Amino acid sequence: MVRVPDDGDLTLRPDYPIRTERLLLRPLTSGDVDALHAYRSRADVCRYVPFEPMDRRQIADRVAGQWAGTTLTAEGQFLMLGVELAQTGDLVGDVILMFHSRLHRSGEIGYVFDPRFAGRGYATEAARELLRLGFEDLGLHRIVARLDERNDASARVARRLGMRQEARLVDNEMFKGEWTSELDFAMLAAEWAAAGDRASVGRTAVPRHP
Ligand SMILES: CC(C)(COP(=O)(O)OP(=O)(O)OC[C@H]1O[C@@H](n2cnc3c(N)ncnc32)[C@H](O)[C@@H]1OP(=O)(O)O)[C@@H](O)C(=O)NCCC(=O)NCCS
Repeated sequence: MVRVPDDGDLTLRPDYPIRTERLLLRPLTSGDVDALHAYRSRADVCRYVPFEPMDRRQIADRVAGQWAGTTLTAEGQFLMLGVELAQTGDLVGDVILMFHSRLHRSGEIGYVFDPRFAGRGYATEAARELLRLGFEDLGLHRIVARLDERNDASARVARRLGMRQEARLVDNEMFKGEWTSELDFAMLAAEWAAAGDRASVGRTAVPRHP
């Protein structure tokens, strides 16, 4: 059930870890630095994201600093969570939920995963939970995902989540030394709720959302 919050009532204070079918989403800790470094230091992982490969020091600083938030209480904040395999405890990636505007109740999601754990649906499963948190718990009206149009794997994640492609912005950013086109995907709270309703009609053992 998607709530329509009163003005001022947009906060997210999850109980951690957040559990999905196969994953745990939880704040990053200093114990995650090596696992984060294993994939965030790779050029292929960073090809279509707005940061360069990171060294261990940069990652440790961010885990202790700007990635340390555990709640969303004001626009402009973001929540960065580690994604852990529930069965093994391996950190397989990280996801981010950005709270853009209180007035417009808008946000954005992003995801970066270790290629060693690719192709098993973990990014989609974790990102779906971010949409749930954003719509159902924070009370957002609209959530977007913005990506480089060459990033096919990321576009497939957005489509699997049921997000609509709304725009293709041609050569709109100078990205890592070249003009880059952006694809914008979006979902509204009403679409999220409708997808949940459709999935639950007359069926069992079906994922609640696309
Ligand atoms: C974008 C990114 C997270 C996508 O990773 P991914 O492994 O393709 O995505 P998922 O973990 O959701 O796995 C989906 C794939 O697993 C397959 N799969 C296997 N088992 C599955 C399951 N149980 N459930 C769902 N999908 C499953 C799907 O068919 C899909 O394959 P396909 O895309 O070839 O059709 C990854 O490429 C990445 O981290 N890239 C670098 C960072 C980046 O660019 N981030 C996005 C910035 S916008």
